[in-house]
Amino acid sequence: MCGIIGYTGHRPGVPVVVEGLRRLEYRGYDSAGVAFGLKGGLEVIRAKGKLAALEEKLAHEPVTLATTAMGHTRWATHGEPAERNAHPHRSNDGRLAIVHNGIIENFQEIKADLLGKGYVFHSETDTEVLVNLIAECRKSQPDLLKAFAAALRQAHGAYAVCLMDRDDPDTLLAARMSAPLIFGIGTGEHFVASDIPAFLPYTRQVIFLEDGDIVRCTAGDYAIMRLEDLAPVRHPVQTITWDMQAAQKGGYRHFMLKEIFEQPRVITDGLSGRVQDGKVCLPELDGLPVPERLHIVACGTSYHSGLWGRHLLENWAHIPVQVEIASEFRYRESLLLGKGDMVLVISQSGETADTLAALRIAREKGVPVLGLCNVVGSSIAREASAVILTQAGPEISVASTKAMCSQMLMLALMALYWGQRNDGDAAERARCLSLLESLPVLLGEALPAMHERARELSRKYAQARNFFYLGRGHCFPLALEGALKLKELSYIHAEGYAAGEMKHGPIALIDPAFPSLVLALDDELYPKVVSNMVEVKARQGKVIALCNTGREPDADDIWRIPALPSPLAGFMALPALQLFSYEMADYLGKDVDQPRNLAKSVTVE
Ligand code: G6P
Repeated sequence: MCGIIGYTGHRPGVPVVVEGLRRLEYRGYDSAGVAFGLKGGLEVIRAKGKLAALEEKLAHEPVTLATTAMGHTRWATHGEPAERNAHPHRSNDGRLAIVHNGIIENFQEIKADLLGKGYVFHSETDTEVLVNLIAECRKSQPDLLKAFAAALRQAHGAYAVCLMDRDDPDTLLAARMSAPLIFGIGTGEHFVASDIPAFLPYTRQVIFLEDGDIVRCTAGDYAIMRLEDLAPVRHPVQTITWDMQAAQKGGYRHFMLKEIFEQPRVITDGLSGRVQDGKVCLPELDGLPVPERLHIVACGTSYHSGLWGRHLLENWAHIPVQVEIASEFRYRESLLLGKGDMVLVISQSGETADTLAALRIAREKGVPVLGLCNVVGSSIAREASAVILTQAGPEISVASTKAMCSQMLMLALMALYWGQRNDGDAAERARCLSLLESLPVLLGEALPAMHERARELSRKYAQARNFFYLGRGHCFPLALEGALKLKELSYIHAEGYAAGEMKHGPIALIDPAFPSLVLALDDELYPKVVSNMVEVKARQGKVIALCNTGREPDADDIWRIPALPSPLAGFMALPALQLFSYEMADYLGKDVDQPRNLAKSVTVE
């Protein structure tokens, strides 16, 4: 989490950095700050809260003279959200300033050592410790690059950092270890940032830095070296093909709404080139054996995609599947047997610390790891044995929407593909593929009415302080996702539950003020779900039934969506749940795109 950006070039640096921070704000928004050289000094300006608070402060400063600057937008880890904990942090001697995304795990030991040497600390952050460690290393090693490397070699954990020196204010030093950092190459200007949109208006030429890389750059020159020994390294310069439009709201009130409405396009793009002569083409998987057991590991919404995908992988490809939350998987002695096993890590950002750790554990055990990621060049995309890109385009809203749709599509294609290699039913496959191909149009047509109904229902249920989301079979993961969306956006307590499990405890909570949204789609489990729903109604619980025209249960509110054969019906139910949460949050005046306490890219464990 946290976003960092550094700029050195010919433009006024602070406005470039502030604009970049705006596009990184999805990574955290507890505080923001910038550093820049001015009149032989190194200015640091910081403010608690969103970027607007920093901009307010900057309005009174002569910032336009500096052509080198760096900035930070924070998601608090060490130390509460407060100005003293905001980045950039300075060294005690005032010569250095640093911005940092990540966690230095051994900072307490380093801090104790530095305290013994007389250093004082003004914040609770690990970052202030790091910048003072660099200052300390500089005492015996005046070359700042060498001192920087020496300090980083002592720091354990994850970091993407950018460093400025008062005595050389037009040079940036930066480094990465287990946290994303991209280097942008413009004409007479260079950038480092946690994500590409931060500098995309200025250049499309990028280098995806790797763990253990150190960069030194000025406006006209750059060098990338290994942290280990400062030997030069060469990475390919890549050209970004998507444009800023994809990272802008395009007339929608919020990124989230735009991203929900992009889902038909996401399906079209995801299918493009993947189906030929009734067969699924996933050349990324051709070189890997069909797994005998698949372990899906992910976090948050991506975990829910994995739970949904399990149904298809087991039904269509006949592969036994386990699905686990990455933060649990990584600390459990999992029974990865090696032979025949495969791990599938799912991550929109490709940077989630726990998911990345799971990938590394599996690789250490010699198990092939398949990555399903949205962000090209991300750590997971680079470290997996093979990667399938979901091609959803940049997802800016902190709450994930279109990324889940794209993950579900790829999971469906993977299930069909492995089914194909396992000599599965060709006629069934052809039927599923033609259904998938018809999805973008069906969904595109359904979305406006779905949005309208979501708006009506959100108004009606806006008083609720609790919600159940109930489903069975392939709808259970969607119930989990619906509940997650409601709580993260509206701060209404919501629980996703397997409808059949309600009677084993949770039904005790039901009363007229505790409504349930029941996924009662027209599939083989419909009669069972209806029985569970009746049990809730019998206890005076209010029920919204998300159902298909022609098969409608008796509920307080009916929400009809177009029918699709199970399990593909999930592609229709998912946006309905997303829109309900969106409308609820917007109606309640919540910050839809940047909910409190959250961040999009969770690069700390
Ligand atoms: C954060 C985001 C969620 C996301 C989860 C996993 O918590 O707020 O929306 O689902 O991380 O992220 P990933 O990038 O690995 O899919």
